[in-house]
Amino acid sequence: MRTPVLLDVDTGVDDALAILFAVGHPRIELLGITCVAGNTSLDNVVENTLRVLDIAGAPDLPVAGGALRPLIEPPRPSHVHGADGLGDLTSEAEFASRSRRSRDERHAVDLLRDLLLDAPEPVTVVALAPQTNLALLLRQHPELAPRIERILFMGGSASVGNATPVAEFNVWHDPEAAAIVLDSGVPAFMYGLDVFNQVTVAEPDADDLAASPRASARLAGRLLHFRMADDPDAVSPAQDSAAATPASQDIAPYSGHIGDAGALCALVDPGALRVERHPVRVELAGFARGQTIVDRRQRTGEDAVHAAAHPRAGALPQPVEVDVTLDVDRERYARLFLDTIALLP
Ligand code: BDR
Ligand code: CA
Repeated sequence: MRTPVLLDVDTGVDDALAILFAVGHPRIELLGITCVAGNTSLDNVVENTLRVLDIAGAPDLPVAGGALRPLIEPPRPSHVHGADGLGDLTSEAEFASRSRRSRDERHAVDLLRDLLLDAPEPVTVVALAPQTNLALLLRQHPELAPRIERILFMGGSASVGNATPVAEFNVWHDPEAAAIVLDSGVPAFMYGLDVFNQVTVAEPDADDLAASPRASARLAGRLLHFRMADDPDAVSPAQDSAAATPASQDIAPYSGHIGDAGALCALVDPGALRVERHPVRVELAGFARGQTIVDRRQRTGEDAVHAAAHPRAGALPQPVEVDVTLDVDRERYARLFLDTIALLP
């Protein structure tokens, strides 16, 4: 049986890997893709997404542009994924041509609304980007929440962050949006940094892909070779005792992270994950803004005991319960990724 899926992306090197996976996997029925500014500008995200669908040999499906910026923060495209958001691959002849597909004229929120209304059964939304489009949808059309089976999102962390010491990029980029989505009542499944950073494809496998006669495999191989500037395995200047050495020389040449594609592995093979259900809040203020506070305590804390005597604490809304992924069988997902890419034309 195939799972109907709507993808929300900010393509993005690893979003591109996820799109290849979604097109290739026989148990995913990709209904449409909505785009949001995040890893790069909205125009780049849309163009990158269309290009990847071409290379994947995907059937026609609607791709719409959505939010140009977070709900409150100014636009702030990241440069971690290269100037084009696709690891600068679009400057190479093989990947330079613009897509033959055209962007759906509807705004992402309208496309999501229409596809949810058209679907005969509730749809899984896989969110691989800042959740601005989804927050706008759920604020504008709260009546559609029951038509969403669940939101499986790449974002957050139960431990360290990447955008800040405690905040993961997608949640940090638009914390209010993530909070609105979590509080919407739609069941949420968090594929956070705790697992995101673990799944890698070995370099010889990426080399084989990059040398493949199939364009989809070549793209996957090249993307796996792109080293994001915020890669957790990179040596930071602060850790470098030879401070005179430019940090770029310290970055190992290969990492092979499948990144956002892991969230789609979680959709089709949840058995490879350790998942726990915990209350999760998004911190909206101060230095920890954008942190997902995952309450993993085993017993009631002093805060609950004294809430009645401290009206401010008592006034906080109850955090929602979220399925949080804490560990992954990394070899199993790397293999699943490679097996799925092998199915593409
Ligand atoms: C997330 O941010 C982006 O860099 C990636 O595409 C991923 O969705 C990781 O924090
Ligand atoms: Ca992403």
